[in-house]
Amino acid sequence: MTLIEVIEAMSARLESAGVCFGHGTTNAFDEAAWLVLWQLKLPLDALDEFAERGLSADELRDVEALVEQRIATRRPAAYLTGEAWLHGVPFTVDERVIVPRSLIAEVIVDGTVDAWLSDRTTRVLDLCTGNGSLAVLAAMAWPDVVIDAADLSADALAVARLNVDRHDLAARITLHRGDGLAAVAGRRYDLILCNPPYVNRQSMNDLPAEYRAEPALALDGGDDGMDFIRTLLHDAPAAMTGDDAVLVLEIGHERAHFEHAFPTLAPVWLPTSAGDDQVLLLTRAALATLKTP
Ligand SMILES: C[S@@+](CC[C@H](N)C(=O)[O-])C[C@H]1O[C@@H](n2cnc3c(N)ncnc32)[C@H](O)[C@@H]1O
Repeated sequence: MTLIEVIEAMSARLESAGVCFGHGTTNAFDEAAWLVLWQLKLPLDALDEFAERGLSADELRDVEALVEQRIATRRPAAYLTGEAWLHGVPFTVDERVIVPRSLIAEVIVDGTVDAWLSDRTTRVLDLCTGNGSLAVLAAMAWPDVVIDAADLSADALAVARLNVDRHDLAARITLHRGDGLAAVAGRRYDLILCNPPYVNRQSMNDLPAEYRAEPALALDGGDDGMDFIRTLLHDAPAAMTGDDAVLVLEIGHERAHFEHAFPTLAPVWLPTSAGDDQVLLLTRAALATLKTP
């Protein structure tokens, strides 16, 4: 069989097994292509080039075993390959962290956030850094900033360390461990990026197996998904340098819960490929309008 025939066959197997996508791919064909190319040690962007390449019997057996493992364990492909890509940048991943896929990456890479930055933007915080992907992408996008990256999980920080070192950014990204902003107590930032745990209780209960393979600490936002965010919005102004300092926050599908929890806030919603109300931006001045119930 040729490479493209094998990918189509593996895609059909994934499809009929009902595996769930969303950890780097959105459909069975892309997921199959990723697994097959990775197993054959071919570049992941080289499908067209190698489409008609034949597979040996051994290669086919190894590919089938990998796809069967994906189906039987329901672990995201990135945990099987040990690597995920976000906007063309590779990251090392394993079960200690979620698979990088934050929409904040998009608004960094496409320049959306730049409108709120200035020459005075030098100190950036990636809060809830997990695998470290947002800190790395921020360092790449803004060469003049220094970044603190914080997380409660020592396990996650160990993976973030691998990614900071992998991209040779240790001189610009410092890792901190602690609960929320307490990890960087006393410091102030021009820009805070945060993809926190925000999944509400009902959604946590309904998560497909692929998402349950990820650390619950990374996803679970409490009853309404807002547990971490409530504390963050209360504490953030003290950690921001001035009225025009900004917080960029991902809330996924939790807009209704967000607006119910913070009715006085008027965030700027940043458009993303997944929708126009999943990532928001608040200046320190806007946060000052927050009324605590
Ligand atoms: C949704 S993941 C985001 C990971 C990464 N930034 C990304 O976008 O791929 C949330 C992260 O928040 C961390 N976390 C959970 N509770 C925390 C807390 N109270 N303080 C700091 N980090 C926390 C988890 O360990 C996890 O790494």
